Amino acid sequence: VPAVSLPAAMALGPILALLGPILALLGPILALLGSLRLLSRLRNTCGHLRSFPCPPWRGWILGHMGMVRGGTEEGLEQAEALAARYRRGCLWWLLPWLPVLRLFHPDTLRPVLTAAASIAPKDQLFYGFLQPWLGDGLLLSHERKWVQHRRLLTPAFHGDLLKSYLGIFNHSTRIMHVSTHPAPAPVLSPSQPSEYIEAILELSRLVVRRQQHLLHYSWWLYRLSGDGRRFTQACATVHGFTAAVVQRRRQALQCLGHQAWLDHHRGQRMDFIDLLLLAKDEDGNALTDEDIAAEANTFMFAGHDTTASALAWLLYNLAGHQQHQERCRQEVQELLKGRDAEDIEWEDLSRLPFTTMCIKESLRLHPPVTAVCRCCTQDLATRDGRVIPKGTAPPVRPPLPSPCPRVPKGAVAVPQGSPA
Ligand code: HEM
Repeated sequence: VPAVSLPAAMALGPILALLGPILALLGPILALLGSLRLLSRLRNTCGHLRSFPCPPWRGWILGHMGMVRGGTEEGLEQAEALAARYRRGCLWWLLPWLPVLRLFHPDTLRPVLTAAASIAPKDQLFYGFLQPWLGDGLLLSHERKWVQHRRLLTPAFHGDLLKSYLGIFNHSTRIMHVSTHPAPAPVLSPSQPSEYIEAILELSRLVVRRQQHLLHYSWWLYRLSGDGRRFTQACATVHGFTAAVVQRRRQALQCLGHQAWLDHHRGQRMDFIDLLLLAKDEDGNALTDEDIAAEANTFMFAGHDTTASALAWLLYNLAGHQQHQERCRQEVQELLKGRDAEDIEWEDLSRLPFTTMCIKESLRLHPPVTAVCRCCTQDLATRDGRVIPKGTAPPVRPPLPSPCPRVPKGAVAVPQGSPA
């Protein structure tokens, strides 16, 4: 124990006596400075938010909550009307302390969508509703984990992977023809909906509904509600299914051995779970079962809803534009002329320019993902001189540009040249 001499201790006495009151003063001064900083930040944020128009609302407490009914046709029309009226964007209050900027125009959207992931990360509140279902997959993970997994999973996004699925696409198309065509004796019958698929559909519906109920924003309250209990039950079904698939495949892989498995699958279709099981980073680290389940659940959600909705909108748009539908039909018939089978081959896809353009136009007019949510970590200037303010409170909610203001609505802009 270091010895302190008596005279030194006596000299320190008055200093220590002063320290008490100084510290007592310092506390409130720091608190005051902090509050002033916060107030100035709040003033700036409010100033930036005020530069965006604010549509009429329900009142101070509820703001605009529930005014656009998500997941319904009416809601879709309301959202379109909003984008047509406030072409660059508008301020939307979900609660008195929860402003959302709905950005519609490329000029206001661009800085958000081109910002680095650290500056405009995915918003936690809305994406958080998916967390108990999807876990930390690519859609919801952040920073290092996202970068690491994104690198590991890059092969899963390679377009060439789709080549080996063409057989399944053709098979599914035949099923769709049978179910929409009153053919006399269908050779193929649509597959029965499984418990797993039912659970995924239920989860998608529940997540949209939760956004409309303020009280359901809190997980603790939500899980006690009827919807919350259904959500938990559906999550359990989905997680149980995924865990069983992953476990079965891992056991099969372990029995055969890594190299033998690769040799066995050479030249064959490698499915997504195989890719996940075999993925290794440069240090040889593989994904855990939990990571694999999260990615599998994420891909199932991100993949099924988007493509189903894209297909449904395409059929809807073609049904509304008979002349374009006819041109697509002629293009396909021309392509298949003289062939025995009606299957579409990989190379055929680039020989359907008109159909491709119609698909792209349909995706542009009715993007299956109608909004992506970002929450900026610093102020972002837009091209028209406004500022999207930094802060955890104001998430930016930009529906993807739809419909493009330069193309009159209803006119499926028919492609004049080659596909973009
Ligand atoms: C027409 C079809 C599709 C559309 C319009 C679409 C659209 C989108 C959009 C807009 C995002 C960004 C979401 C955000 O950042 O908040 C996204 C992310 C993602 N999509 Fe798709 N998608 C489609 C098909 C698919 C398919 C078929 C799969 C997989 C089988 C898939 C897997 C993913 C994944 C994993 C992410 C997260 C990527 C990441 O953050 O790194 N998507 N998609």
